Amino acid sequence: MTEVVRRSTADGVTTLTLDNPPVNALGKDLRRGLLEALTQAEADPDTRAIVLAAAGRTWPAGADIREFGKPPAEPLLPELCAAVATCTKPVIAALHGTVFGGGLELALAAGGRLAKLGTQLGLPEVTLGILPGAGGTQRLPRLIGAKPALGLMLSGLPVAAERAVELGFVDAVTDGDVRSAAEAMARKIAAGEVDLARKFPRPDHRADATTWLRAVASAREGIGKARLPAPGRIIDCVEAALLLPEEEGLAYERAAFEDLVGTPEAAALRHAFLSERRAARLPDLGGAEAREVSTVGVVGGGLMGSGIATALLSAGYRVTLIERDPTALSAGLARVATNQERAVSKGRLSKAGQEEAWSRIAGANDMAALSESDLVIEAVPEDEELKQRIFAELGAVTRPGTILATNTSYLDVNGIADASGRPEDVVGLHFFSPAQVMKLIEVVVGDSTAPDVTATAFALAKRMGKIAVRAGVCDGFIGNRILTAYRTATDFLLEDGASPYDIDRAMVEWGFPKGPYAVLDMAGLDISWARRKRLAATRDPTRRYVAIGDRLCEAGRLGQKAGKGYYRYSDDSRHGEEDPEVLGLIVAERQAKGIVPRQVTDAEIQTRVLAAMANEGARILEEGIAARPSDVDVVMMLGYGFPRWRGGPMQAADAAGLLGLRNHLKDYAREEAAFWQPAQLWDDLIKNGRKFSDLNSE
Ligand code: 3HC
Repeated sequence: MTEVVRRSTADGVTTLTLDNPPVNALGKDLRRGLLEALTQAEADPDTRAIVLAAAGRTWPAGADIREFGKPPAEPLLPELCAAVATCTKPVIAALHGTVFGGGLELALAAGGRLAKLGTQLGLPEVTLGILPGAGGTQRLPRLIGAKPALGLMLSGLPVAAERAVELGFVDAVTDGDVRSAAEAMARKIAAGEVDLARKFPRPDHRADATTWLRAVASAREGIGKARLPAPGRIIDCVEAALLLPEEEGLAYERAAFEDLVGTPEAAALRHAFLSERRAARLPDLGGAEAREVSTVGVVGGGLMGSGIATALLSAGYRVTLIERDPTALSAGLARVATNQERAVSKGRLSKAGQEEAWSRIAGANDMAALSESDLVIEAVPEDEELKQRIFAELGAVTRPGTILATNTSYLDVNGIADASGRPEDVVGLHFFSPAQVMKLIEVVVGDSTAPDVTATAFALAKRMGKIAVRAGVCDGFIGNRILTAYRTATDFLLEDGASPYDIDRAMVEWGFPKGPYAVLDMAGLDISWARRKRLAATRDPTRRYVAIGDRLCEAGRLGQKAGKGYYRYSDDSRHGEEDPEVLGLIVAERQAKGIVPRQVTDAEIQTRVLAAMANEGARILEEGIAARPSDVDVVMMLGYGFPRWRGGPMQAADAAGLLGLRNHLKDYAREEAAFWQPAQLWDDLIKNGRKFSDLNSE
């Protein structure tokens, strides 16, 4: 037996303890170890009941995601679950932590399930583009009925143990030690005092085929034309659980699982999951420890500052909000209060939690109130001079060692750091709006940022439930640089012959939730206009410049807030109508430049956008602004609506084929070399038969 499973026997009960940190993922060693131990316990004449329990922070949180897409290693999880289900001795699962995916399927195969209070249970496979492939689609609906089982599998969301008891897939919850509770029950079984089947009688949901089929039909209607195949296949499996004998249903499920696990969408979703975790690995910090942070100052109570303050309160920090005068301060505090009200109304925060959080916020007009802060986040408007002034003041009023963070989306973090007088304590924290909702933070590491300051920024993000990605200093860091490349590519197409509506439709069809021009309308066209004006003096006059956006702004078309931008908005509607006036403006601009419009297909739009984004990503990697391709992907998926099932621009470029995309770039470079010239990295990878993903060091 391998050491990942420990075995102990007393009073006729054998306990098998799974120990595969950090999350007891059911990798091949654990599967093999458990099957061996189970077989031995079953054969052992002194064992009359078996308890399965887990060491560490959790019962298995699922199959080992890193094994998917590789040759399967015996025993497979369904085989292990079958061994538990057909074990001739009663098996009780003692659950704690996060009982997810294959972990829940293992538990479902047991005869009884006890859970520690606080346990979360769920089948998140759909979020990975697959389905529960170790009996979940068959055993769960049989146990609790088709409707709730479909609800769990199609949402992928976990439920608390108490809810699992109500639904019928956990037998009891204990707030004591769950392993002891399971062993106590197993001893009674071993002593013949309790019969598991009689103690936990299972209803026969399959007897009511009408209700079952109604649930299946309504789930089919509910998913409509889902873009990914997994939801439809889950529903098919639940139907099969009614129509087929168990063995055949299990085989049907397995075949569907194998189909899905090999799809590019599932590969991209796995990449997304693993990339989000990889982003936190920072080998160049040399093991620096994060500094202690309990009190955080936020300078600026606007939309961003109040969002950041709200997120900090949710994470349990004490917050001091600074605004320049009492009116601005009360407006900032009111925004925090409104954010919290919204969280309460959505059930994400309790009333008591709201009151407790509110007791941790203080407001002030004087920066001196930040003297006790461990970290200060500046969130004032994007004005370099203003930020430098604030950092000079922060450097003076805060304690040495207080971390000073600037929330900027484009500006030079090094200049801001120098202004503070102690640049080693300064870091950029680029939050995304609304900051209390969006999961991404770009941690912008300056030339002088101390390693423990970077480590603290990552620890802060983790405690806030966010995902941090390290970025270097440049105009726009990772995300906004790639966004600029995206917009440049589509602006060229706009001038060449496509309409904004063609481009938006093509990008939505490709998988973005909104097209780039609809997004610009939402954000306000004046933001990027101001930036273009800021950069105008240093712009290379030989580079192609599309002025359509400027013309729209000059015509007062600033986006949704003005009722018109690339689209026209009537009666405060957020849904824009196509506007012939905009098309007229584009035609005039083409004529002024002597451009004869040409036909642009959806496929060309999509290819150019991907090529532009991945090429900018490659440049960012070459410059060391991003540490690895997967970091670029995480930023674009979490911050910019890049479709997760495509895995980000670098993963999508890998999937599309590097050679083909590089050749497209070379073709496009004949039109405008400076923008389209492929980065050297393409050739380096292609000639070695490698992909961007090969650079994702673990
Ligand atoms: N496989 C492999 N590694 C996993 C894993 C899994 N299922 N789940 C987590 N890990 C790894 C993470 O990559 C991370 O590794 P690292 O420390 O090297 O970066 C480590 O475990 C800790 O994970 P988190 O950083 O995510 O820790 P948290 O405490 O924030 O979250 C968790 C823990 C809630 C368990 C979260 O990791 C999670 O949701 N995991 C995925 C669960 C899942 O999707 N399970 C279903 C898998 S598919 C399946 O079971 C198919 C079956 O039906 C056949």
